[in-house]
Amino acid sequence: MKTELLQLGAGQDAAIYRRAGELLREGSLVVIPTETVYGLAASIEREGALRSIYEVKGRPSDNPLIVHIAEPGMAARVAREVPKAAEALFKRFWPGPLTVVLPKRPEVSPIVSGGLDTVALRCPSSAAAREIIRAAGVPLAAPSANRSGRPSPTRAEHLREELAGRVPLIVDGGPCAVGVESTVVSLCGARPRLLRPGAVTLSQLRELLGPVDVDEAVTGELAAGSTVSAPGMKYRHYAPACPMTLYRGARAASVMKSELARLIGEGKKVGVICFDGEETLFPGAEVRSIGPRENHLVQAQRIFAVLRELDCGLDRILSVTPDPDGVGLAVYNRMLKAAGHDLRQTEEEEA
Ligand code: TXA
Ligand code: MG
Repeated sequence: MKTELLQLGAGQDAAIYRRAGELLREGSLVVIPTETVYGLAASIEREGALRSIYEVKGRPSDNPLIVHIAEPGMAARVAREVPKAAEALFKRFWPGPLTVVLPKRPEVSPIVSGGLDTVALRCPSSAAAREIIRAAGVPLAAPSANRSGRPSPTRAEHLREELAGRVPLIVDGGPCAVGVESTVVSLCGARPRLLRPGAVTLSQLRELLGPVDVDEAVTGELAAGSTVSAPGMKYRHYAPACPMTLYRGARAASVMKSELARLIGEGKKVGVICFDGEETLFPGAEVRSIGPRENHLVQAQRIFAVLRELDCGLDRILSVTPDPDGVGLAVYNRMLKAAGHDLRQTEEEEA
């Protein structure tokens, strides 16, 4: 298949949106920009297209897709019920990087929901994403536009690596502003539950909703412990090809430094992920900074690009971890998954 790559911002945007909408209505896949990461989009009314999302990504068919809508009013087309708490979330955080899981209308294809009776909904703040949804005239199911297990694409050059030759159209909207996938919160249980951390933070959700439970998969406390409860926890996501180890705590950089010396002594090729200003501590390594230690927004923008850059024939990657609070929790969560939960505590933290 020949892949057309169309770049927004060169005076042709309206025509690009029309073209994308037309392909989506016909049942083709289109890669679309959003503020979080690029999405591999299909009309929720085209079962053939929905199936090919799973094929193209190599995604297990029980992992459900997020439905993207152009305005909050479209939620009722997909959700059977929109409770008060959902209305409040929409009002405060939409359009934006928040996905809300709600009871599903029975007519929405089970391919979207991976067979569940719930559906995940998101109204992106990316104007391009919303224009494309409007042009298609139908909500769009869109997972991140990476092959399953790989880092999510946040820049147009990542998309060529992932999907060239596999989709008819890639819409290039430049680098994604947020850089990590949306926060996912479920309103289908007794209490709201955070399923995936993102740029809308846990404390923002709690401020609005009151108590919010946190799924075990978010912090990885379980996996760091050692028993694996959910099958999904076994698999690495966002992963470079070589093993990656995370270091946490006050002495992270110095422990990494001595580990690096040991590995180089064994003739290993080593990658290091550090914070700004630490680059020179790691001579002999392929070094990338994810940004200033305190700036979680910059870290979120860079994390997936850094993981991709370090997917370059190394034997090992050693990485610092951001404090898991605010947007830092989202970056920390993606790093844990990339490292298959291999996390070393370098010093007890103060209680
Ligand atoms: O930022 C994002 O959300 C991006 C962009 C493209 O919008 N999309 C994205 O989709 O990250 P994906 O497929 O990579 O991640 C969807 C997440 C998965 O963890 C999936 O298990 C969860 O949302 N999910 C989807 N539907 C669900 C449901 N009905 N119940 C619980 N979790 C659900
Ligand atoms: Mg994904």
